[in-house]
Amino acid sequence: MKKNILKLTGLLSVIAVLFVVGGSAGAQNAQPAQSRVDMMTLPAMKDQFSQYFMIGNIFNPSDINASGVTNARLTRHFNVLTAENDMKPDKIAPTRNSFNFGTADRMVNAALASNIKVVGHTLLWHSQIPGWHRSIGTNNVTPEAALQTMKDYITNVVTHFKGRIYCWDVLNEAFPDGGLGSDWRTSMRSGAEGNPWFMKIGANFVYEGFLAARLADPDAILYYNDYNLDQSAKARLVHDMVRDVNAQYRRAFPNERRLLIEGIGMQSHHNTNVSPSNIRATLNLFRTLGVKISISELDVLSQTWSQYSSRAALTEAGSARAAQLYGEYFTLFLENSDIIERVTFWGVYDEQSWRARANPLIFEGRTTSYTKPAYFSIMAALDAHRRR
Ligand code: XIL
Repeated sequence: MKKNILKLTGLLSVIAVLFVVGGSAGAQNAQPAQSRVDMMTLPAMKDQFSQYFMIGNIFNPSDINASGVTNARLTRHFNVLTAENDMKPDKIAPTRNSFNFGTADRMVNAALASNIKVVGHTLLWHSQIPGWHRSIGTNNVTPEAALQTMKDYITNVVTHFKGRIYCWDVLNEAFPDGGLGSDWRTSMRSGAEGNPWFMKIGANFVYEGFLAARLADPDAILYYNDYNLDQSAKARLVHDMVRDVNAQYRRAFPNERRLLIEGIGMQSHHNTNVSPSNIRATLNLFRTLGVKISISELDVLSQTWSQYSSRAALTEAGSARAAQLYGEYFTLFLENSDIIERVTFWGVYDEQSWRARANPLIFEGRTTSYTKPAYFSIMAALDAHRRR
């Protein structure tokens, strides 16, 4: 069986090379017919990568029923799922003290019934949060009261899902895109769209939030999750935060062997221009912290974002560029598989993507999803890695 899979991987990479190297220049939508393979006929990606890391994707209420995950594209290829939207604070707790766990419960239970792990996404954020989270940052509650509110929120949510969530994104996207200072404690998102917990409580909300989650479900792996971590200034702040929060935990619990923040999620929503060597530098930096890494929301644009106001035709050049990058990224992920526990794609096929207009995924087609060149370069990277 394993041999057959290896053979098939080999064959697929040959096709990929033929395709990536040999396409006719300049043609639009010119993927050769042989490159389009129905993803339901491919070997399961989760099996092909099983000795390296889990392979994940996102799911939505339409992907499940009461007995499990009904989306066969998900169950075939992926062994870990993240709710695309349904576990975010605005969905889970639209009003204060009234939780709305129904949809999330059905999704989590369906995934577990289908033998798929679930990522809890996400507890503390500045986006997709209810008004009562947002207003914490600016209303006249005391920092102490805000801290209690935050801890109660985390305790309630994490306790509710206790034992069902393999890892939690406790804090999402705490740092802004630009104008970063050098001290993580003063550099988090503020202002109208800021992180309300940071704005009211200050930087210590990070330690307190992670600690509340640890106490509520000690078996869950606790993650910090963010994007643009290929950029060294942001990566440095995240590194320093994780280092300091984990040191604070060690001082408070000297006998505890685990870290408090055990993982960093690198979302990896990439444009056409994210260099693998920058990602390598970040992986080397994070490696020194002793944490696990998840590539938590991977998608790679096939064309520049600003150039198109609506979904443009997939060009051969754009598709080949994304394929090349996907291959280089996976080469890097495989080289670092000792610390990478999961690679999650943010969607299965282009048409469903939150960035659909730039064709960022490795399959395309809503009814039947077919391979894009990126799929084959990922498999070629796997094949090359195995041969080394
Ligand atoms: C996105 C979803 O894919 C969209 O459906 C939604 O409209 C906005 O959020 N970082 C995250 C994810 O952590 O939760 C976001 O998901 C993408 C960016």
